[in-house]
Amino acid sequence: MKVRKPSVDVLSSNFIENEISMKKLLKELNSYYKLSKQEGSASQIKRTRTRKKLLAREKIDLLLDKKKPYIELMPLAGLKHEKGFGAGGTTVVVLGYVSNVLCLINANVATRKAGAVDYATSLKNLRLSQIAKENKLLTINLVESGGANLPDQDRVFNNYGKFFMEMSRRSKEGIPTISVVFGSATAGGAYVPGMSDYSIFQKNTAKVFLAGPPLVKMATNEESTDEELGGAQMHSSISGVSDFLAKDEKEALEITKKLIKKIKKPTVNNFEKEASVPKYDAKEILGIVPSNLKKPFDIRDLVKRFVDDSEFVEFKENYGRTMFCCWTKINGYPVGIIANNGVIFIESARKATHFIQLANKSNIPLLFIHNTTGFMVGKRYEQNGMINSGAQLIHAVSGSTVPHISLQVGNSYGAGNYAMCGRSFEPRFLFSYPNVKSGVMGADQLSGVMEIIKRNAASSSNKVINENKLKKEKKALAEDAEKRASVWHTTSEVWDDGVINPTDTRKYLSLALAAVYSSEIKGTDSFGIFRM
Ligand code: COA
Repeated sequence: MKVRKPSVDVLSSNFIENEISMKKLLKELNSYYKLSKQEGSASQIKRTRTRKKLLAREKIDLLLDKKKPYIELMPLAGLKHEKGFGAGGTTVVVLGYVSNVLCLINANVATRKAGAVDYATSLKNLRLSQIAKENKLLTINLVESGGANLPDQDRVFNNYGKFFMEMSRRSKEGIPTISVVFGSATAGGAYVPGMSDYSIFQKNTAKVFLAGPPLVKMATNEESTDEELGGAQMHSSISGVSDFLAKDEKEALEITKKLIKKIKKPTVNNFEKEASVPKYDAKEILGIVPSNLKKPFDIRDLVKRFVDDSEFVEFKENYGRTMFCCWTKINGYPVGIIANNGVIFIESARKATHFIQLANKSNIPLLFIHNTTGFMVGKRYEQNGMINSGAQLIHAVSGSTVPHISLQVGNSYGAGNYAMCGRSFEPRFLFSYPNVKSGVMGADQLSGVMEIIKRNAASSSNKVINENKLKKEKKALAEDAEKRASVWHTTSEVWDDGVINPTDTRKYLSLALAAVYSSEIKGTDSFGIFRM
């Protein structure tokens, strides 16, 4: 066992202050996790227990390989949605190993509104599709869903459609989907097994139809029973929608595991055999990373707490110092890190652009660590071509074909977010710390800019400003912008794949790297025009 030495002053007032405020945010995070893990009302859960059925997370536990790591993705989707079904929606998404194969599991929470797909769930389904496609991951749907959330059907409709199209496209590319049906899957829900490469139905309980008996009676006057229209036995012996008939939930999950063993080669994790743990304690991250985003900190102190042996080879240490670039390993996986250490200057942007080209030549994935308010502004920087250098970096990020992973640890604003591979630049995975703020610009700047615009507009049309009204509007705007920039709002909208406890950084990044390394990594030397 290695001795972990402290490298920062854990008794300094700065460390203690940071730790106290991060722990407060972790308390808030844990309270939201708790909401997300609550799989529906007490009466729905009691009904499930009476029927001797398993909850979504219990099924996932039975499926996952024991003693292998796994992570839940997007657990707080919909946290702030007014019309939704609560934090996490009605599906649990997990990245983990089944029969030694790294898979994505998408388990409907049937005890929350019958697993009907609310807007947040539709966003999760879309993101899951993207992750599966980009990382070529097998998907397992554990199905029991009443289809689209009918009162909010307009917001769900197109996302639901895209989910099916993506399933089909993955199937075409040889990235399989397995659906295991445990209960009712109506209308849209019926197309989940219908569009899958493999489907497994649980005897007596799986019911899959486009329309149930009452709707059929209304439409065609035909009398029918649930079993005749969509029972597991019928689909296994007459319609052919089911490929395997399981006697109960456990057998359905066992069939899934056996099937995966036969159709997929185990995920090779040779890199992990070479892994060594960091020398420094991950718990110290809580005192290193400030929640007060105006306070600077050295990003190296964070990196040392999740990379192998706390070691890295720093690139251009004395040039463009607000961008830290290094080669290192995380859990044995080689990775290049590009991390902010302040505002992005011309030299910092050039350095990161150079580094992205190198990573592409060596076929090494990149980890972007965001903590920036954006590019440097002002006459001197504009005249020296800040826009050109920023555009070069954005071209490099957009053109790069090695996998990108993003980790937000503080500010992630404006073009800085784009240049650091924010959500719109499609990183393979994106995680956030609970202190993160993200958006076009900070709330104070945004409300200040709006004030200047309003004053200029009034003066050019000779109107007199109502100072009181303007002050109130400015305050309201700043408060609203602050709320929307908060990580609780952005994670609710699925701008990230999860808000994480900073002490778990290595675990999340290791699994993300296992996913990106499970298929071929190929860089490029072709980028958009680097304006000089
Ligand atoms: N949209 C919104 N809410 C739905 C829903 C849907 N599609 N399907 C079910 N719910 C809600 C119910 O209103 C109920 O809410 P409540 O707890 O606030 O009362 C809750 O989910 C549980 O529904 P319930 O009918 O009691 O569950 P069940 O297990 O007895 O039956 C179904 C499940 C799926 C068979 C049944 O709910 C159903 O037929 N739903 C409609 C299916 C459909 O036609 N979908 C078409 C949309 S593509």
